[in-house]
Amino acid sequence: TMHQGNHTTISEFILLGLSNKAEQQNLLFVLFLGMYLVIVLGNGLIILAVGLDSYLHTPMYLFLANLSFADISSTSTSVPKMLMNIQTKSQSISYESCITQMYFSIVFVVIDNFLLGVMAYDRFVAICHPLTYTTIMHSRLCVLLTVIPWLLSNLVALTHTLLLTRLVFCDSNALPHFFCDLAPLLKLSCTDTVINELVLFTVGLSVISFPFALIFFSYACIVRAVLRISSAEGKWKAFSTCSSHLTVVLLFYGTIVGVYFFPSSTHPEDTDKIGAVLFTVVVPMMNPFIYSLRNQDMKGTLRKLINKRRLLPLIP
Ligand SMILES: *[C@@H]1O[C@H](CO)[C@@H](O)[C@H](O)[C@H]1NC(C)=O
Repeated sequence: TMHQGNHTTISEFILLGLSNKAEQQNLLFVLFLGMYLVIVLGNGLIILAVGLDSYLHTPMYLFLANLSFADISSTSTSVPKMLMNIQTKSQSISYESCITQMYFSIVFVVIDNFLLGVMAYDRFVAICHPLTYTTIMHSRLCVLLTVIPWLLSNLVALTHTLLLTRLVFCDSNALPHFFCDLAPLLKLSCTDTVINELVLFTVGLSVISFPFALIFFSYACIVRAVLRISSAEGKWKAFSTCSSHLTVVLLFYGTIVGVYFFPSSTHPEDTDKIGAVLFTVVVPMMNPFIYSLRNQDMKGTLRKLINKRRLLPLIP
């Protein structure tokens, strides 16, 4: 933090949280603790199952495990701190923690976004080029397809963070949010944020459009393949898995467009909060159910693990 003019330095922010009503704090605590546990357990089980069962060492499941890891991390950047603040009835977060929280919240949302694209590409190759699938999706390409999202997302987060540290916060340090999210921080600053918003828009647009194009192209092919299936039962089966994937994709991209592309004036503060809850809690909570618990292979592996009691040594 720096002095500029006669403004005082801000060394901490106040996180006003999701609600300022005292009687709602216990409900929020229980609700978010419950959702956090579901996210950590659900996604943790996926990582464990994929890690332990060599039958699941295929690109699709390795990407899924990466997505689960990103989901746990994404939630962990904000929810534990929020729960702690409710319990200790303290709303403060230091400037450094705030910037760190913002950095990692960007990293994991961007990774999620890229991985959804990578997973769609994987499905596209599996459905539209089944005979050459193993040749195309060789392990080096898989590693590349997971390393690139990690590198790019850190680059994106670094760009936004460096641009944010230029900003001065003077009149108020009270953030009407439950964690240090980029959009509400920009609104709070008393510096002109036009460059930040321009970069947010252009980087955001390029980060979103490539995975989105991959997903769109993949689904166009998947829909064509589904329409070619002759039996009604087969059609319905394929469609039902498609529709659940599409639900996550639509939820994810609808939220991005609604919340992060219109960061100021047009939307009230509540839109930021709703979007953030969707990204950091609802999407990570839904992914295990949508991508794997409906999946027979994954269910089989989980049943095997529990039957063999291989999980027991891991529980203290
Ligand atoms: C992520 O994917 C890579 C390559 O596909 C794989 O080697 C790695 O084990 C995965 N990470 C997790 C947490 O499963």
